[in-house]
Amino acid sequence: MSLNYAFSFSVFLLVLVVLNIYFFYTLNTINKKSPKFNVPKLRVDLTTNVFQDIYEYLNYLPNQYKNKNSKFMPIQKKLINSFNTSRVTNPAHAQHTWVEVDNWVSNISLFPHEDGIGGKMLHALQSTPIALVDNAPKGTQLKLLLLLEGNQKLYFKPKRYNLEHVINGKIYAGFDRHNSEVFAYYLAMVLNFKWIPPSVIRKVHLDNDILPVATSGLRKTMLKNSKGTLCIYGKCFYCKINETVCPDDNGEVEGAAILYLDKQLKVYKSPWRRSYNAKKMEWEIDRDY
Ligand SMILES: *[C@@H]1O[C@H](CO)[C@@H](O)[C@H](O)[C@H]1NC(C)=O
Ligand SMILES: *[C@@H]1O[C@H](CO)[C@@H](O)[C@H](O)[C@H]1NC(C)=O
Repeated sequence: MSLNYAFSFSVFLLVLVVLNIYFFYTLNTINKKSPKFNVPKLRVDLTTNVFQDIYEYLNYLPNQYKNKNSKFMPIQKKLINSFNTSRVTNPAHAQHTWVEVDNWVSNISLFPHEDGIGGKMLHALQSTPIALVDNAPKGTQLKLLLLLEGNQKLYFKPKRYNLEHVINGKIYAGFDRHNSEVFAYYLAMVLNFKWIPPSVIRKVHLDNDILPVATSGLRKTMLKNSKGTLCIYGKCFYCKINETVCPDDNGEVEGAAILYLDKQLKVYKSPWRRSYNAKKMEWEIDRDY
């Protein structure tokens, strides 16, 4: 009986020692095999725990994740081809593109991302003549609602900052960044998220493209600045008469042209949505979120 016990205990000890050696070995090889991950130099606030954690974990990634997965190459090629499709110059073709876009809508995929529709859609968003422009008072910031020839609607979010401008402060500080709409769309395509609205940079000429087709409501929210240039202050929750969008020296306003989806769909709130006040969201507090 006691011999049996001693034997079991020895086996137990042996297992314990082997496990210890195993863990020690694994930990060691993780450190040895994984050279420091080349973290790109980003101008982000690294004082937040979330960022520190992410960068720390990058060093412990198994090696398989440190090289580009060859399975990704065909996907990447297809995606790039999709955006390089021949330009739509004929308005009838643009019309066909909108029909394709409209037929695509489902509960799991709001916007087309295959068979080259992506590129055609972006080009049509960027170049189809504008038939009517109004304020888009929904939401908090200045936007215009454009009706393109062929009846496709889009949102136009004007540029407020240059690309390299960094805004410090709270997450909701400053105006919306129009570039972010475009980045979000391309990033979503790479990540295979099919519910981020297609968006492309478009320049509109205030006198030629907007004024002749502006509603009287929009005209009422325009004024001349001290240089005599006509500017827009718009209509929205945060719109102020002293915070206008003015055309550049060429008379143009740059903005993000964002496809507008005119359909009733079930709405799922994003678990990563931001807070619009000082209250932190769950993902900002819970480190295991
Ligand atoms: C979404 O799904 C519901 C049922 O789950 C269906 O009734 C509805 O038609 C779907 N909508 C679209 C646009 O596919
Ligand atoms: C515009 O006026 C508001 C007060 O009505 C002020 O808070 C804001 O800072 C002003 N904006 C600019 C850009 O001067």
